[in-house]
Amino acid sequence: MDNTIRLQYLEAMGIDVWLPRTSLPTKQTLFSEVLIDDAELESKSSVIDDWNNLQIEVTSCKKCTLRTTASQTVFGSGNKQADWMLVGEAPGQQEDEQGIPFAGSSGALLTEMLRAIGLSRKDVFITNVLKCRPPDNRAPHVNESSSCINYLHRQQQLIRPKIIVTLGLIAAQSLLKTNEPLAKLRGKVHMFNDTPVIVTHHPAYLLQFLSKKHEAWLDLTHAIQTFKNNKG
Ligand code: URA
Repeated sequence: MDNTIRLQYLEAMGIDVWLPRTSLPTKQTLFSEVLIDDAELESKSSVIDDWNNLQIEVTSCKKCTLRTTASQTVFGSGNKQADWMLVGEAPGQQEDEQGIPFAGSSGALLTEMLRAIGLSRKDVFITNVLKCRPPDNRAPHVNESSSCINYLHRQQQLIRPKIIVTLGLIAAQSLLKTNEPLAKLRGKVHMFNDTPVIVTHHPAYLLQFLSKKHEAWLDLTHAIQTFKNNKG
């Protein structure tokens, strides 16, 4: 089927069509074929296919056994063209039930942390290293993180955020492929592919140790500065 017609069908059916931030077509360009050349259309289609394929791959993933115990996969939520990407560890019970990351009390704190720096959950993309809940909320096994991390790489490549903030030790160590403790990883700018990474505490840890909130605040201000430097 012609790609322009396909886009129009998808839109009419109310299906999410994810396009790169730099080339979102207006209705006028979608319906006026002369304004879209073949190369541009091909690149848009490949992005659409990548997002859709990625989500389908995640949903039907069998790389580890977690999909057999999880109720559903938790792909990520928010803005697929976001400048900010936040990465946690793995879905817990509420995320597993609702299909969205950080749906519980630690998620409420995360929303507050974002608000403190002038962002809402709609401005950012939030996901986890693992897309399936480990049973009984146990820590992810190494083979589970290493088979799932490729999905995170692909999400990062599609979103191309200006900054990534990792939440907690597991997310930081998985992204940065290190065994260093959080204390050594905080306060530095790391890289994940071509995106700067700032490491901070997990909101669940902050709910337990309220006195650490000031460290999280320092990390977020560091993230803002790093974001501004990377904005160009
Ligand atoms: N903790 C995480 O790391 N991720 C979630 O989505 C929820 C809790």
